[in-house]
Amino acid sequence: MRIIRDTDPLDSSFIPDRLIARERELSIIKENVINPLREGITSPLWVYGYPGVGKTVTLKFLQKTVKSPRIIYENALSHGSIRAILTSMLSQLGRFIPPSGTTYKQIFTALRDLSAKSGTDFILVLDEASQLYRDMEGMYNLSRAGEIHGVLLSPIFISIDPPEVYSSFRERAGAMRMSTLKFNKYSSDELYFILKDRSESALNDGAYDDTILHYIAETSEPYGSARVAIETLQKAAFMAEYRNAESIEIEDVRGAVSLIDPYITESKLAELNAKDLVTLLAVCRLLRVSVSTDMKHIVPEIRSVMEAYPVVRNEFRVYDTVRRLERAGFVTSHVIGRGDRKGVSKVIQINDIPVSILSQKIESILSRMSA
Ligand SMILES: Nc1ncnc2c1ncn2[C@@H]1O[C@H](COP(=O)(O)OP(=O)(O)OP(=O)(O)O)[C@@H](O)[C@H]1O
Ligand SMILES: [Mg+2]
Repeated sequence: MRIIRDTDPLDSSFIPDRLIARERELSIIKENVINPLREGITSPLWVYGYPGVGKTVTLKFLQKTVKSPRIIYENALSHGSIRAILTSMLSQLGRFIPPSGTTYKQIFTALRDLSAKSGTDFILVLDEASQLYRDMEGMYNLSRAGEIHGVLLSPIFISIDPPEVYSSFRERAGAMRMSTLKFNKYSSDELYFILKDRSESALNDGAYDDTILHYIAETSEPYGSARVAIETLQKAAFMAEYRNAESIEIEDVRGAVSLIDPYITESKLAELNAKDLVTLLAVCRLLRVSVSTDMKHIVPEIRSVMEAYPVVRNEFRVYDTVRRLERAGFVTSHVIGRGDRKGVSKVIQINDIPVSILSQKIESILSRMSA
């Protein structure tokens, strides 16, 4: 290929050898969690910040570079409960325990055993953690692992919002004392250096120049997101490749920008609860065949979604979930008159992302939830 030498560094799961502009965050995590654990002190941490600001990659980078304590990474979206996360952690450590019917005592006994054998303590990274506070029993056991079960385990939660946002978090967490760490958006300069680093390893020399990288950094700056920047670079490179060009041009970048949706990410979906998700899926299904829909159609569609995914047990107010989806930027709505004296109705639309892609993402989360 003329433009791309190695596609891996442009992939979203790539973990680079060095992180740009995250020295402060790395040293805070070391000082507040890693070093204390080496002294036998557990200290839960809640990491938060906008999508694409490097939360996941920073923790995965630490996982790769720190040998003791041992850092285990789990994505909460793949599991329904903290118990399921902990059994998955155990299986990563080579110990199989069936998730159902297992007590926390059994889980932590196995962990204590593993810790004694290997001589290391554990940090458990729980990514996409915004729904976890609902699991009170799990939070309690996780936060008191040392006191109750005699296991040194420091949890690091990752989410978009700070813990206060999740209602009554403090009570639910069993008064868990946690420090917090905010990841800020990247500046245009920082995005430029991230792009420079990636293009050096991914692209052929001469296939791009600084103007292109600066231009991508500028278009991504409003989001402050390295994901948006790297994805733009990747798509622009593919477009140049596709037109058989010698190098990436500004026009390729423009094309790439138009293909990217900076808002609807997995971590944004992780913010939604089961009611929001079934409502959004119902809206998506209705919009597959029309440009807009309304409340009258959404309610019966939700019923059919719930037959496939029985994730909500109680009744709920669809108006509230729609309003929440609107505030989070997933749907837009406007009120229209229905003609003389017939009153008004609320029309709902999704404009920025193909509903088929969104449906697939939601369906996979719902099937995990209902498993
Ligand atoms: N400081 C950095 N240096 C190099 N690459 C980075 C840096 N920050 C982020 N990236 C890259 O940008 C992309 C997005 O980062 P990451 O997935 O960690 O964001 P996030 O904060 O977890 O976002 P989300 O909330 O959507 O999960 C990844 O491909 C990551 O490798
Ligand atoms: Mg992430």
